[in-house]
Amino acid sequence: MDAAYPNNRNSSRHPRRSAPDLLRRGKFVDEASTANFYPKVLKRFGIEAMVLLIHEEHYRRPVPTIRLITLGDEHVPALLETMRDPEVLRFTRTPDPMPEEWLGQWLARFDGTHRAAFAILDAEGAFAGYAVTGAIDWDGLEVELGYAISPSARGRGVATETLRQLTRWAFAQGMQRVTALIAVDNAASSRVAWKAGYTFEGVLRSVHNLNGRRCDLESWSILPGELPEGP
Ligand SMILES: CC(C)(COP(=O)(O)OP(=O)(O)OC[C@H]1O[C@@H](n2cnc3c(N)ncnc32)[C@H](O)[C@@H]1OP(=O)(O)O)[C@@H](O)C(=O)NCCC(=O)NCCS
Repeated sequence: MDAAYPNNRNSSRHPRRSAPDLLRRGKFVDEASTANFYPKVLKRFGIEAMVLLIHEEHYRRPVPTIRLITLGDEHVPALLETMRDPEVLRFTRTPDPMPEEWLGQWLARFDGTHRAAFAILDAEGAFAGYAVTGAIDWDGLEVELGYAISPSARGRGVATETLRQLTRWAFAQGMQRVTALIAVDNAASSRVAWKAGYTFEGVLRSVHNLNGRRCDLESWSILPGELPEGP
């Protein structure tokens, strides 16, 4: 099992293994309470690991205040701007160029029962991105979730908090398995799934048609009871 991703059975492909992850989640975790923890870290992992650990302990990213509300016509201008961002075009199935009728048809699919879509609003009520479900399987009680954050709102934990809130919502609907499919080269999104408590399951090869190219997708899932409490 990967020391950085203890909830993953098969995460060797995953690129990000920070020193704090290794230290906190690895075999040194039991020593964290002892007085000689930092000297041991220094000796075993070096100064960089110790600095990273102290940095994470003392400057942990605050959880951003966000709200998910039903995506509506009033969000369309900001939604379009986010959808036109190159990273969103790269990692979602938003067509490029976008046919004139496409957005209306896409929005119409989210009736709240078969699929749901949410605008992400920041503390000031400004549009910070959007989050969607795939087709909700009410028989199998399974759903896939997706998200895209507006460029100006990135790097502050918005995606992670969005995924947490949306996952909580999905479990409240009775879902028994919630998934996220993430391109193998979308390291930031994989990190988001891991931080939200998802487990890496493996790679699905050559799936989805993203603007004319097929791609390999990491499959991540979470089950009831696995959502971490708090930040
Ligand atoms: C991917 C995306 C959702 C991340 O949104 P965000 O609000 O910036 O994400 P968060 O701030 O919650 O977390 C991002 C994490 O990835 C890390 N990260 C960012 N770039 C990274 C990279 N290239 N490699 C590894 N990790 C990276 C960040 O450091 C952060 O982790 P940390 O909190 O431990 O430092 C956003 O960039 C986006 O909308 N991209 C385009 C659309 C998309 O990819 N959607 C997801 C489809 S599956």
